[in-house]
Amino acid sequence: MNILILGSGGRESAFAWKVAQSAHCDKLFIAPGNAGTTQYGTNVNIKVTDFEGIKALVLKEDINLVLVGPEEPLVKGVHDFFLADEQLKNIPVVGPQQEGAQLEGSKDFSKQFMERHNIPTAAYRTFTKDTLQDGLTYLATAGLPVVLKADGLAAGKGVLICLTLEEAQTELTAMLADAKFGEASSRVVVEQFLTGIELSVFVMTDGNSYKILPEAKDYKRIGEGDTGLNTGGMGSISPVPFADAAYMKKVEERVIIPTIEGLKKDGIPYKGFIFIGLMNSNGEPWVIEYNCRMGDPETESVMRRIDSDFVDLLLGVAEGNLNEKGIIISPKTAATVVMVAGGYPGEYLKNKVITGTENVRDSIVFHAGTSMDGNDVITTGGRVLAITTVQDDMFSALQQATADASRIYYDGMYFRKDIGFDLL
Ligand code: AMP
Ligand code: GLY
Repeated sequence: MNILILGSGGRESAFAWKVAQSAHCDKLFIAPGNAGTTQYGTNVNIKVTDFEGIKALVLKEDINLVLVGPEEPLVKGVHDFFLADEQLKNIPVVGPQQEGAQLEGSKDFSKQFMERHNIPTAAYRTFTKDTLQDGLTYLATAGLPVVLKADGLAAGKGVLICLTLEEAQTELTAMLADAKFGEASSRVVVEQFLTGIELSVFVMTDGNSYKILPEAKDYKRIGEGDTGLNTGGMGSISPVPFADAAYMKKVEERVIIPTIEGLKKDGIPYKGFIFIGLMNSNGEPWVIEYNCRMGDPETESVMRRIDSDFVDLLLGVAEGNLNEKGIIISPKTAATVVMVAGGYPGEYLKNKVITGTENVRDSIVFHAGTSMDGNDVITTGGRVLAITTVQDDMFSALQQATADASRIYYDGMYFRKDIGFDLL
């Protein structure tokens, strides 16, 4: 069969690497892809939100399955677009319809969902411009720190952790009255601050049954020792030692099953991935957020621990028989080190030539923000490459990924050398 992957990051590179190995896969297309995805399939320069362009490609190349990487096309309704189109309606899309994508597209929707289905999450209230005064009063009674979340998608910038009441009130006003994040902050969730260690849990579902994929830990801060600004993710590790069988049983019983059953009870169809961002507080899982897609850079580590045919699982999602599929997960450890552009996550350097990838010894170089410039591979994004390795133990995996990252060079190159070391 012919398969189309939508997206252009490290996550989509890891998907493409895995999908290309499947016995089910004849031709693979990636739209728009990056300089690295051409190793696994054909790039087509179409934006992930250009639904008409995607339609033309799907018909021209006789695509039989579409795997959606990022959240934006899902929240904008790419799956609904397929279902409403006579020529596309029978071509399966892995990724939820607009309603299900609201789990990520609206923080207020996801908080109400969790409350309705008794899923453990931080206490919250939602405010709008009309209830700003109530919000300011509420903040005065809420504990500190307090978390403010723009309701809609805000490119990962819509969450503010405020340490003082003054800061929280100023920010709430900026978000609601001055549209700090545009339409995304026309509603704001004010939430209790949770302490603990974060964990990314991934579930694949056909809307009925589910499979739990390998969990991972993501490192979001730019600086070593988890310091400095937030980024899209500087590395990941899987498995995560504290997420042992007993812990994952709690997650499954208290979070995963109620989530799948909640979607069913609410009549929300859902075929795709659910990424559950958890806070582990003293051994108890609390949901920080849902995403309607896989995580990046977690996917790079997760794909490398799935030993079964991934397309077979995608077909289970598409055809509604996921319960009949098996999943084999490697007991080994996968580690990913993300190499970023100089200046990232602020203004960053671009168009720098990348050299040395041929010196990498025992990792896969997944591309993210890269393009071809003649025969050169150049940097075009903030997150440039994801270096992923699999080893028998965590220490070797962390060492190998870090050593391999240091074999690559471009002007301004930076990566964290401490990914995963907090877990050793
Ligand atoms: P989100 O966009 O919901 O993933 O939030 C971004 C980040 O903010 C999360 O990954 C956490 O590190 C942090 N965060 C969000 N909500 C909370 C919370 N209630 N308590 C503590 N940290 C939080
Ligand atoms: N790694 C976090 C995310 O993909 O949102």
